[in-house]
Amino acid sequence: MMNILVIGSGGREHALAWQCAKDDNVQRVYVAPGNAGSALEPKCQNVVLESTNNDASEHSAVIEFCQNNAIDMVIVGPEAPLVTGIIDACRDAGIKAWGPTAYCAQLEGSKTFAKEFMAQNNIPTAAYQGFTDATAAKTYVDEQGAPIVIKADGLAAGKGVIVAETIEQAHEAIDDMLADNKFGDAGSRVVIEQFLQGEEASFICMIDGDNILPMATSQDHKRAYEGDTGPNTGGMGAYSPAPVVTQDVHNKVMAQVIQPVVDAMKAAGHPYTGFLYAGLMIDKSGDPYVIEFNCRFGDPETQPILMRLQSSMIDLIAQGLAGHLPHEAKWDTRPALGIVLASKGYPESSSKGDVIAGLPELDADNTSLVKVFHAGTAFSQDGTTIDSQKVSHNNDNNAKEVITNGGRVLCVTALADSILDAQQAALAVTAAISFDGAHYRRDIGHHAIAREQS
Ligand code: AMP
Ligand code: GLY
Repeated sequence: MMNILVIGSGGREHALAWQCAKDDNVQRVYVAPGNAGSALEPKCQNVVLESTNNDASEHSAVIEFCQNNAIDMVIVGPEAPLVTGIIDACRDAGIKAWGPTAYCAQLEGSKTFAKEFMAQNNIPTAAYQGFTDATAAKTYVDEQGAPIVIKADGLAAGKGVIVAETIEQAHEAIDDMLADNKFGDAGSRVVIEQFLQGEEASFICMIDGDNILPMATSQDHKRAYEGDTGPNTGGMGAYSPAPVVTQDVHNKVMAQVIQPVVDAMKAAGHPYTGFLYAGLMIDKSGDPYVIEFNCRFGDPETQPILMRLQSSMIDLIAQGLAGHLPHEAKWDTRPALGIVLASKGYPESSSKGDVIAGLPELDADNTSLVKVFHAGTAFSQDGTTIDSQKVSHNNDNNAKEVITNGGRVLCVTALADSILDAQQAALAVTAAISFDGAHYRRDIGHHAIAREQS
């Protein structure tokens, strides 16, 4: 029997923990720090990792926990610990951990690294230039014209990208990042990119250094409001598969994007391991362009993708860690669609402590076609927030209320015979859930539904 440690606290991590816990060979899934959803999941337990050694390195709490709790496998959800080298640290300590090394994670950690890597390896992407000086950046924008895209170089949780419709908006974004430091260090350097037209898709793979296992395709909805309007967010909903990724597009992405990454990283002496996410723009002729690389699974793409995964995630990762990743996994042929419920003010701000009503009963046998994955949630008792790691699934959770604890709160995910049916099923459950300031998009999946209907 295996013990697993999942690192992270979002909807992606709840879905990963749920998927791992379904495996009969798994005894316990620890989630650090997790959320109310992972606390309630059978076989799962939230933990807070604290190092006992004062001058210990950043990742030593993870290593200590693994050594003290017979952890067989660590799965890292978010980019931040990957970029700072958690995989390198675990490997040095002899712990099996799934993800890319710090070197490879630069594909997400630095837009400049990613753009230079793509240029060197002929991976199709938008033309760009990098700047640290606001005046030079503005002159470049004036030459190029609008629409144009301004990006903070470092990690900015999906919010450091401004698609400027006008020259004025572009200048404002440059001032925000370079002069006013609105994105902190992440924005001390900007990348200015040609505006790409087409339809977006998320192409996520597992890679073991050599072998590539593509996950089911998916599409995310980054804008906050219906009709793909409003500010960029971490993602307001997603579905799988994405019909825009036809077999022909799939082949092009593998040959022009994914294989070159695997080959170039191997040649550089840093084989790529873990999840790799290519955010793509597919143009009218079906040619893919990379908008961004992420060194992890997508959120919320993970939720619908894992709803469809029939292979065991644990088996796939174990095979990946051994360098024997299969080239195909088993998928439910039905589509899945997830709708994100966000809290008041998201994405500009987020609210905490609002009581969530109307959550469906936990489905311990996993027979339901709708699953509510938690993201920014916690428990409250008598109006105070209690740490979700203090609540285990066999406690009397009826006494505790689930409250909001971040921007993206829940992702209601449904599996159905069509994307429209999945959207309707997810909407029905979403509509029954309420908390102060809750908002969500009713049009998740609209591209695919339009295709289904034509
Ligand atoms: P990123 O964080 O780089 O994925 O960018 C966030 C979102 O901004 C993307 O999902 C796109 O919707 C949009 N975007 C980014 N770069 C471009 C581009 N070069 N052309 C058009 N849209 C873009
Ligand atoms: N859903 C977009 C991302 O995970 O970055």
